[in-house]
Amino acid sequence: MIPVCRFENLPEGESVRIETTPPIAVFRTEDGELYAIDDTCTHQDASLSEGWLEGCLVECPLHAASFDLRTGQPTCLPARRPVRTHRVSVDDGMIYVHVAAEEGTAA
Ligand code: FES
Repeated sequence: MIPVCRFENLPEGESVRIETTPPIAVFRTEDGELYAIDDTCTHQDASLSEGWLEGCLVECPLHAASFDLRTGQPTCLPARRPVRTHRVSVDDGMIYVHVAAEEGTAA
């Protein structure tokens, strides 16, 4: 379980990257939901935390592949492989990521 930041420090519509290996991107959607996925796009080496968030989708900043934050699945080309998803929890105002044990599975 990895601490991310205080809940109030991650505004709606924003994301934060945590420097795990591999890095993880944590998103707070406009609806206030929290999601965590592997930060690196499965197409090439781009940081999804720098992408554009729309609903539960994040668009890669490099070639505009889109990933569903709930499943990690790409919703359009050029990405074909999913990113890992990770469970997120909030305890006493602190956001935590529970890193998934294996590729493609949530913790
Ligand atoms: S690097 Fe993400 S779509 Fe190409």
